[in-house]
Amino acid sequence: MIFKSVHYPNEMVATRRGSPLLIGVKTPKKLKVDFVDVEFGNIDEIPADVEATSSSLNALEVPKLRRSESRAFLSEDGQPQQIEYFLASDPSAVVEHTKRVLYLLDDDIAHICNGELHIHRLRRDDGISSIRSIQTLEIELAEIMKGSFDHFMQKEIYEQPESVVNTMRGRVNFDTHKVTLGGLKSYLPTIRRCRRMVFIACGTSYHSALATRAIFEELTEIPVSTELASDFLDRKCPIFRDDVCVFISQSGETADTILAMRYCLERGALCVGVTNTVGSTISRESHCGVHINAGPEIGVASTKAYTSQYIALVMFAIQLSEDRTSMTVRRSEIIDGLHALPSQIKEVLQIDQELQKLAKEVLYKEKSLLIMGRGFQNATCLEGALKIKEVSYMHSEGILAGELKHGPLALVDENMPVILIMTRDSLYPKVRSALEQVTARKGQPIIICNKGDDAINTSYKTIRVPQTVDCLQGLLTIIPLQLLSYHLACLAGVDVDFPRNLAKSVTVE
Ligand code: AGP
Repeated sequence: MIFKSVHYPNEMVATRRGSPLLIGVKTPKKLKVDFVDVEFGNIDEIPADVEATSSSLNALEVPKLRRSESRAFLSEDGQPQQIEYFLASDPSAVVEHTKRVLYLLDDDIAHICNGELHIHRLRRDDGISSIRSIQTLEIELAEIMKGSFDHFMQKEIYEQPESVVNTMRGRVNFDTHKVTLGGLKSYLPTIRRCRRMVFIACGTSYHSALATRAIFEELTEIPVSTELASDFLDRKCPIFRDDVCVFISQSGETADTILAMRYCLERGALCVGVTNTVGSTISRESHCGVHINAGPEIGVASTKAYTSQYIALVMFAIQLSEDRTSMTVRRSEIIDGLHALPSQIKEVLQIDQELQKLAKEVLYKEKSLLIMGRGFQNATCLEGALKIKEVSYMHSEGILAGELKHGPLALVDENMPVILIMTRDSLYPKVRSALEQVTARKGQPIIICNKGDDAINTSYKTIRVPQTVDCLQGLLTIIPLQLLSYHLACLAGVDVDFPRNLAKSVTVE
């Protein structure tokens, strides 16, 4: 919350609880020190059971806020200097003005008056730092501009050949076939001893957990469960000290995921954050974690964050399993697959025009679209369907092909649009059987398959993507679905980057 009043011109008060708030600081000269002292009130003297309402505070004659001269905003030679402040919930909103920001913590009260910034807290709580550091943002202005693209979503889909490299940069050694995630290194022995891992997230981030669960279990032999944060909280899921809970969130500020993390922290589990936002609540409050380094994602529909989360989790599994020699060959195969990924993503992006045509000529007027697949592609189906419904408002459903006979097959006839993901992995014969079930009901599926797969009848419409290792294939099959959803949204005249009823960061339960 930010307060201004006609009774106090040129002053501003800001505070946060739950949702993020940062202050950008712009000065002509370098700052003398790069932190601001927190000024604590002496409310500690109030008995804990007294609620801090204005009347109770007055009754106890609590002193007014303390004020001291801020050292932070003097220039290096100790002289006062001109200063501008920018308040925002996200760094991308201030980066065009300044790259120097400080993040407020829950219950901090910032007071800006006479060019000075003071940060107050009523109480000196345990473990709360007495300074707020002024950090330098690493994002560039160009990263939050659309450039030659029509929408941020389109730009972010096209950025994926670079964003996946940024996720791997300095972490994957393609010569020695080793992965090193610095933020997890000292916690690996604890993680290896855990009884199970629980991946907790919402929406697209949840799908990245689903996409990587199988390779995690295969490489590490640790049981992994995946949880939607809201349902996890509703169920009050049992969590123990020897559990490792992984919280995946692009923004690091999703309320349900944060609450689930606090629930697990209280129960003594090791909490690992996988986020795209340095300084976010999840990255600050988790014990350790990985930043996915995908760069700022502005479009409400998450695209490049999904592929980067996916890769970050695969890297996590590889590093965690490095003590298992029986997995050496499998690890090397995956690392080689990661190496080839950026150029393969570029190859997929080249079929954009075909996908635009498909959206326009085949799918745009339809009411509904089913996306089917199994195994590693189940997550792709769910994520593709989420993308389509959120930006084009067309009903779309991701269906596990193994479940077809248990209900969804009833939907299939000659009029129901179906996309079937049928890439070359161990489940290929089973997906072929799903294809037969669909065609037997006069369905005419569009098939996402591998380039060079001649076993697929030429009478089908196909979307062909390069082949990679089974557990990475979902990184390539999701891209046509991202592009398709983008084109369907444009054709429907939707404000692609800001679809109705949705927000980029869901900071409420
Ligand atoms: C995806 O396109 C959505 N915008 C949404 O599902 C999102 O992934 C979800 O709200 C979780 O957000 P987070 O990754 O920032 O936690």
